[in-house]
Amino acid sequence: MPAPSRLYVIGHRGAAGHEPENTLRSVEAALRLGVDAVEVDVHAVDGRLVVIHDERLERTTNGHGRLADHTFAQLRALDAGRGERIPTLDEVLDAVGGRAELVVELKGAETAAPVATLLRARGPAADDVVVSSFDHVQLARMRALLPEVRRGALVGGVPLGYAAFARDLGAHSVHMSAEFLRAPFVDDAHRRGMVVWVYTVNRRDDAERARALGVDGVFSDVPDEIGAEA
Ligand code: G3P
Ligand code: MG
Repeated sequence: MPAPSRLYVIGHRGAAGHEPENTLRSVEAALRLGVDAVEVDVHAVDGRLVVIHDERLERTTNGHGRLADHTFAQLRALDAGRGERIPTLDEVLDAVGGRAELVVELKGAETAAPVATLLRARGPAADDVVVSSFDHVQLARMRALLPEVRRGALVGGVPLGYAAFARDLGAHSVHMSAEFLRAPFVDDAHRRGMVVWVYTVNRRDDAERARALGVDGVFSDVPDEIGAEA
């Protein structure tokens, strides 16, 4: 397959290289930089969907301990950087508001059902969403619950059979690690009709190499440095 003329640029955790990751401020920064999509990480806590990467609080907030040991109100009282609160997925959907696509990464356990419920409730406002996960069981659940929402299968290495694992997921895209970017894997995903996105690419020469291998899009903490245009 010929290399795409232009990479699709996805702001990673918003624009995590510029603002505190997975905050509304980070999402807004990514949108200002002209990304094609924004990626955020989601956990279900206390019956709510919160946007945060880790299952512990220390790295990205002024809190301590595990997410799961907190109530939603306790989490919302924390500082996630520059005075930002941990956002809900609903708030992120409102912030993006159709200005870009949104990649919702199911990070926490058992997140498919509540995410499907939220996206169904939002109706057409959820059309621009791709749901991704390293947890392919959750992706399969998403497929059963809300088949019309696109699925992206995350993978950290190079599986036996390349992209064959995504067959039963009906995936729109394979999201592969930049560390394990291999031409035959890219080609196999394309042959199976899937788009290939690579995480995380923060240098222009790495983005150019990915494009030359036929990669369709990249996740970046610094979308402006790898070719997003406001
Ligand atoms: O969705 C792409 C990328 O975010 C996957 O890895 O650990 O940054 O969530 P991680
Ligand atoms: Mg992620």
